[in-house]
Amino acid sequence: MNKLKIGLIGAGSISNMHLQSYKNNSDVDIYAICDHNNQRAHEKAAAAYQAKTVYTDYKELLADRKVDAVSICTWNNTHASIAIEALNAGKHVLVEKPLCKTVKEAMAVAEAVDNNPEQVLQVGFVRRFGTNTQVLKKFIESGDLGEIYYAKASCIRALGNPGGWFADNERSGGGPLIDLGVHIIDLCWYLMGKPKVKSVSGNTYYKLGNRSNIKHKDYYKAADYDPDKNNVEDLANAMIRFDNGASLLLDTSFTLHAKEDAMAVQIFGDKGGAEIEPELRLITEKNDTILTITPQIDDLSFDFTKGFQNEVDHFITCIKEKREPISPVHDGVEIMKILTAVYESSKSGAEIHYEDSKME
Ligand SMILES: NC(=O)c1ccc[n+]([C@@H]2O[C@H](COP(=O)([O-])OP(=O)(O)OC[C@H]3O[C@@H](n4cnc5c(N)ncnc54)[C@H](O)[C@@H]3O)[C@@H](O)[C@H]2O)c1
Repeated sequence: MNKLKIGLIGAGSISNMHLQSYKNNSDVDIYAICDHNNQRAHEKAAAAYQAKTVYTDYKELLADRKVDAVSICTWNNTHASIAIEALNAGKHVLVEKPLCKTVKEAMAVAEAVDNNPEQVLQVGFVRRFGTNTQVLKKFIESGDLGEIYYAKASCIRALGNPGGWFADNERSGGGPLIDLGVHIIDLCWYLMGKPKVKSVSGNTYYKLGNRSNIKHKDYYKAADYDPDKNNVEDLANAMIRFDNGASLLLDTSFTLHAKEDAMAVQIFGDKGGAEIEPELRLITEKNDTILTITPQIDDLSFDFTKGFQNEVDHFITCIKEKREPISPVHDGVEIMKILTAVYESSKSGAEIHYEDSKME
């Protein structure tokens, strides 16, 4: 089989993880880079990854018949339209999280996937590809945790509003909930066995602004960092109920008067529990004694480089073997339903029940 020709759309910060992973995959040729920032597209193509072709208009990249597959690493408000056009142009798609901004858009992407059964669309739920997640999934599948009935997910940045488009609701769809919360909600939901969501109650807060006044502390910033605009929440929390009786408790922030950044993801079953972050541990009971088990694996925490490599390798394998990815579009739709319900619940001050939700 010839090498798959990859086109990358959106040559900002996260594109490096995609490009490096494609570069390490021997079945792939990084063929084209597109960014509407001409200089950025050229710099990334020429210097870093030797792509032969550069576009500033993604429509031109999609019209290029040599391109087999695309990574979409653009702002959230462009994911749905680019993904749909890419599928209709015959390309396989790896689209960054979140799938898009609204449930309506997510359903439109799902329809395009259904209309193009030859193409693979993988949602970039990269945490599913961490070694700690994959190891834990095996334990869950063999019944070691029993019935999972509770999960708790927290991703707190004390200071870390990335600015630029991330802080512009029109382009991002929201703040830490849609940017960070999406990872840990998905991680728990996936490990819980993807139960059907029944209701969501959430709160969002706009108390601290982006705190761009803070000095002497570095943090992740959008490629076009701009502190002047910020209309996204700085904290979100939620209680998500599932129809099997399980529940998920979440909080996530871009900034909070917390001592430090902290990530904690835990799931609890009737036979055992597990901490996924900050480090994988299994908790169980044997001979009337509680045991904490530390697996002997290289990465007890999520390793970014390996996670992205596994994600990209999986995408390529699914294309070659005509398989559905482990993070298919329908999962993206379900996660979009949860995210939008948290915002809707916060706005209305009431719990959202799926039957009566008018989420768009
Ligand atoms: N999986 C992860 O862990 C992770 C981490 C960071 C970001 N992301 C996601 O990746 C995406 C990009 O984030 P980022 O941090 O790289 O942002 P960024 O601002 O650094 O880069 C985005 C790039 O996309 C370009 N762009 C935007 N719209 C475009 C369009 N229509 N056509 C061509 N180029 C366009 C911008 O010019 C910019 O260079 C977002 O969806 C974000 O949620 C995922």
